[in-house]
Amino acid sequence: MKLYTILFSLLVACRILASQPVVPGAVWNDTNGNPINAHGGGILFDQGTYYWYGEFKNDSTGRAMDGVSCYSSADLMNWKNEGLALSVMPQGSFSDIEQGCILERPKVIYNPETGKYVMWFHLELKDRGYAAARAGVAVSDTPAGPFRFLYSYRPCAGSWPENLSQPERESTTTESDFAEWWTPEWMQAVKNGLFVRRDLQGGQMARDMNLFVDTDGKAYHIYSSEENLTLHIAELTPDYLSHTGRYIRIFPGGHNEAPALFTKDGRYYMITSGCTGWDPNEARLLSAPALWGPWEQHPNPCRGEDAALTFHSQSTCVLPVAGKPDTFIYMGDRWNPRCLIDSRYIWLPIRFEKNLPVIDWTPEWYLSVLP
Ligand code: GAL
Repeated sequence: MKLYTILFSLLVACRILASQPVVPGAVWNDTNGNPINAHGGGILFDQGTYYWYGEFKNDSTGRAMDGVSCYSSADLMNWKNEGLALSVMPQGSFSDIEQGCILERPKVIYNPETGKYVMWFHLELKDRGYAAARAGVAVSDTPAGPFRFLYSYRPCAGSWPENLSQPERESTTTESDFAEWWTPEWMQAVKNGLFVRRDLQGGQMARDMNLFVDTDGKAYHIYSSEENLTLHIAELTPDYLSHTGRYIRIFPGGHNEAPALFTKDGRYYMITSGCTGWDPNEARLLSAPALWGPWEQHPNPCRGEDAALTFHSQSTCVLPVAGKPDTFIYMGDRWNPRCLIDSRYIWLPIRFEKNLPVIDWTPEWYLSVLP
């Protein structure tokens, strides 16, 4: 009788878990009953398990006091806390990732050639606000870490973007030619490569970012550059640990942040946000026949209540569901700047209409609805 009761309870528990809906914007607890703390995150699927990496937020500051968290799941619904995948270094260590730095939007990819898990993130050095605009990299032999921090830098030092013309490369216009920012002349100069030229020797600014591994195994780093005004897509070396120096600018002056890239039927799609800090704005949708472009812009992919504010969220990544070809989930952050640890997650299924992704607002949905 006792055994029967236990089995019955287990069965009920399993049914409850299996039938749990995704409730965008609700508190999402891990398997220990604590809210998942993995913001600006990304997901790696590795040998049957999903790993969700994100910013481990503190309740009183947006700065990194702990590091990058990692959760694992077999079903995308129930997440086990794997602890910190990357820990910041102690105060006074003078490490680039010293406690109190800003460490945002971590993403992890696996390199089958080296057998290493490679993490890239946006790094701002301690006590320097958002001035450093660097990319940091860490590496691990196992998906949950611990990752070992390698270095941080501004990408593509000494290299011109492939799509910056010769006259733009040779232009002598500099920032000091403009008394103020945001004038039409200044914006034209930005489009013509003002900041690319300024940052050529030291490397290009790299803030909001993502990683993308193409079907041929080549990896790319996509980041908001040029004072957040222009996105760059830059190729990584075969070991994924640095940049080759090959890169393009997309939508110069377009003010795109929070890039989330995915591919379907040989076409590349990117969801981005505008630049309004922690406040939500209208998502943008870009697509291209190849990573190297040409990229074109489409209308806002969001539909339904508060679509003009991306349902009060900002993109962080688009997750291809394992084993379900052409099935994708939009993942965004609903930031709470007054208490960043309480920022919520907006996950919604993506459907396609006339070959373009569409994200419908759905207050609650079941993973089983995915095709
Ligand atoms: C957002 C960005 C976030 C964070 C925030 C800081 O625009 O997407 O990742 O950097 O600004 O204000």
